[in-house]
Amino acid sequence: MTMQVRKAVFPAAGLGTRFLPATKAQPKEMLPLVDKPIIQYGVEEAMASGCDNIVIVTGRGKQSIEDHFDVSYELEKMLEERKKTDLLNIVRSISDMIHVAYVRQKEALGLGHAVLMARELVGNEPFAVLLADDVVDAKVPCLKQMVEVFNEMQCSVIATQVVEGKAISSYGVLDVKPVSSRFGERLFEIKNMVEKPPFEEAPSNLAIVGRYILTPAIFDCLSNTQTGAGGELQLTDGMRLLLQQEKMYAYVYEGKRHDAGDKLGFLKATVEFALKREDLGEPFREYLKGLKL
Ligand code: G1P
Repeated sequence: MTMQVRKAVFPAAGLGTRFLPATKAQPKEMLPLVDKPIIQYGVEEAMASGCDNIVIVTGRGKQSIEDHFDVSYELEKMLEERKKTDLLNIVRSISDMIHVAYVRQKEALGLGHAVLMARELVGNEPFAVLLADDVVDAKVPCLKQMVEVFNEMQCSVIATQVVEGKAISSYGVLDVKPVSSRFGERLFEIKNMVEKPPFEEAPSNLAIVGRYILTPAIFDCLSNTQTGAGGELQLTDGMRLLLQQEKMYAYVYEGKRHDAGDKLGFLKATVEFALKREDLGEPFREYLKGLKL
């Protein structure tokens, strides 16, 4: 029987230190790109890729994420009374959108640990992991492209992109070999991977991007993984153990990734998303043109 990806896990318990002071009392996942929290972009992508079961791994101070995906009676009632139908539809569509379950990561012990927290909710089936910081703008949603690969290969698939120069050491980095498939030069078989290596030791310029499809065998691997880079339980280290048991593939997705967890990346994403908006694009473009840059 072929395996299908129906569940998507969103690790969202991180402390958001790269975005202080904005993230002192609000989750970074709730920072809006134009008018939508960054985690909602990821949730919409997961749903558009066939995952109707969402698991969000939260921690202290993340209540507003749960509120965001919940029904807001007072707000809906007010919008209804004032006949603000468009806004009402937007607000309702968010809570209607998903079946969501929350699990708490009591301590921020790393990405691998966060994924392990979702074990019981995921069970014994393949699942997706999306890092909300990585917002991928693509004609075909990034995860959907990867689901196509998974459906054919029936093995774990990790999204990757080329990162030039020293910046590679801010990522998990892949060592790969070519593979012949209908996905052409976009698909590689993974030989090895290492979390945030020094530039000189990076095995390639292929960085891991925050989209993964993993088989459930990853959970045992994560349980057996030692603390790694930064004193945290790294997902990359767990995946390296998985690689000893199963084939894994790296997929160079089509689309543009924004690192919305970084201040400059967030600004760039905001500008690009605003320019694409039907209601804001034109006046915003005019405004930008008028700036003496
Ligand atoms: C995490 C992963 C890393 C990956 C990156 C992608 O790192 O540990 O392997 O390359 O996400 O955004 P973080 O950015 O959380 O430090």
